[in-house]
Amino acid sequence: MSDVVLALNEVKFSYQNSTLLIDIPEFKVKAGERLFLYGPSGCGKTTLLGLISGILEANSGEISVLDRSYAKMSSRSRDSFRGDTLGYIFQMFNLIPYLTVRENIALPCQISRQRRQRAGNLNSTIDALAQRLGISDLLGRIVTELSVGQQQRVAAARALIGDPAIIIADEPTSALDWDHRETFLKLLFEELDRYGGTLIFVSHDQSLKAMFPKVISLVELNNAVGEASCT
Ligand SMILES: Nc1ncnc2c1ncn2[C@@H]1O[C@H](COP(=O)(O)OP(=O)(O)O)[C@@H](O)[C@H]1O
Ligand SMILES: [Mg+2]
Repeated sequence: MSDVVLALNEVKFSYQNSTLLIDIPEFKVKAGERLFLYGPSGCGKTTLLGLISGILEANSGEISVLDRSYAKMSSRSRDSFRGDTLGYIFQMFNLIPYLTVRENIALPCQISRQRRQRAGNLNSTIDALAQRLGISDLLGRIVTELSVGQQQRVAAARALIGDPAIIIADEPTSALDWDHRETFLKLLFEELDRYGGTLIFVSHDQSLKAMFPKVISLVELNNAVGEASCT
């Protein structure tokens, strides 16, 4: 296997009856990279992450993750591949409100057998991860009782459990002040270093740029920007 974990080639995408939103000739991410992808609101960051995670299908072109092309997979195998391979931290965290913190963190291991196996003893792995992320005392709580900063760490733990090859983060720090954002990113980097995970982090907030070894502007990457109505 090559050291490229994500490759886009001539990828074009538009929502139904809408103008071209994504037109990326070439984009590669290598194993272990910490990539910051920035661009203004409405420029297609979340859409691009949807394509990268195989939730959205490109109109044309090829997207491969770990050398496997989405176009060659059934939607069912895309779903299970996504569960095995990607940890997703959503902008609004998308935690399940009626589950405890521990149950939320364990979810990916119920969806993916590979991640369940990699997690080993699930309870003690969650204990150790929660300890490192500073959320040990929250494990029995219902997630709606948590602060935004606490929810964010739970969302990170859920993305990281079972060591997925790629962590995708969609503006997960926008609700936090600078000190909390910096601390959160440091924790995330430490976890990724521990198992060699790759990070693709998107944001409109360029103040976080300095913390990342690799920075890419979506406006430069995406030929369709300009046609879309970025605000
Ligand atoms: N499901 C959808 N159907 C149609 N248009 C959409 C959909 N989701 C997003 N868009 C439009 O696509 C553009 C890019 O959105 P998005 O990818 O969410 O941008 P960003 O994450 O950079 O703010 C926006 O103009 C948005 O209104
Ligand atoms: Mg977005």
